[in-house]
Amino acid sequence: MSIPLVDLQAQYRLIKTEIDQAIQVVLDHGGFILGPEVAGFESSFASYCQAESCVGVASGTDAIHLILKAFGIGPGDEVILPAYTFIATALGVTQAGATPVLVDVRTDDALINPALIENAITSRTKAILPVHLYGRCCEMESIRQIASKYDLKVIEDAAQAHGATYRGHRAGSLGHAAAFSFYPGKNLGCYGDGGAVVTSDPALSERLTLLRNWGSRKKYHHEEPGLNSRLDTIQAAVLNVKLQYLDPWNRLRRSWAALYDQLLPNYGQPLNSPENESVYHIYAVRVRDRDRVLINLQGQGIGAGVHYPFPLHKLEAYKHLDTQSFPESEAWALEELSLPIFAELQEEQVRRVASVFIAQVPC
Ligand SMILES: Cc1ncc(COP(=O)(O)O)c(C=O)c1O
Repeated sequence: MSIPLVDLQAQYRLIKTEIDQAIQVVLDHGGFILGPEVAGFESSFASYCQAESCVGVASGTDAIHLILKAFGIGPGDEVILPAYTFIATALGVTQAGATPVLVDVRTDDALINPALIENAITSRTKAILPVHLYGRCCEMESIRQIASKYDLKVIEDAAQAHGATYRGHRAGSLGHAAAFSFYPGKNLGCYGDGGAVVTSDPALSERLTLLRNWGSRKKYHHEEPGLNSRLDTIQAAVLNVKLQYLDPWNRLRRSWAALYDQLLPNYGQPLNSPENESVYHIYAVRVRDRDRVLINLQGQGIGAGVHYPFPLHKLEAYKHLDTQSFPESEAWALEELSLPIFAELQEEQVRRVASVFIAQVPC
């Protein structure tokens, strides 16, 4: 039995008729750029996230870049982010011309450690960029308190957290603005690249609408140098279909995660709680000798993965940030192993993954 890390084809088979129809509608009307499906999706996704507005953009990386640009954060400014995340979090910052300042993560859930943030603040700090890694929200109450004390923006990197809740509020409504990715493997993914900014700040959303469209509101009237970074109409059509399934898919992910928790009590993530409800974009375990376990799982047909093998400061691209150690981030990068998780998994597949895993590791 071969079990992939994610199975996009299995998902497509279940919604094929609706997806094909939605794409056909776009092919027929031909409004490929900023067609009606984009505004439709923006309005549905904003209300899904319990926020006032959503601006569709070309990717999650661009969403981070555009939020910073729209806030006027750029060269000479610093943005605080976790040392352990996908490179795109930092790329959005450097693309805006600002400087990433790294903070270590927590041992138990790999999320930015709020207790270490104040130490990283300088007179140049303009924003905190917490990452809701693996689908679990960061400790937002503490982060917001620090931000308000130092008058900083809070920008959520919610690329892995569509539908996650923190104290009853959805990711996307927990800071000044949030960046989402709709990369195909995300909990809400399209069939190419796509992203969005979600915010309840009307001035920000107005400015983003301009910046994503070459800095223009009206054809050939360019108010400032913007980007070409719009969410494709075809991708918006796909997302309109998939958004209706996001909650049931997330519930299924939670049920598979709960089964893994039960079968792997010594390895799972922190238990889910109503206070901080994960959507399990990734089901991460930590294990010593991770690379051996990974190879053995893959050798038995189990699509395990690693998210991520290097913290940011150990990447060639960001080696200039390697001026201090971030021990928890480094430990996560050495030991993290991602087990298959997606809505369409079957119980026997989860049980098989758990038993092959257990056979590799001390209990
Ligand atoms: C944490 C995180 N931030 C940002 C991104 C960037 O999103 P995109 O791939 O859509 O640019 C991703 C996903 O790729 C991500 O996982």
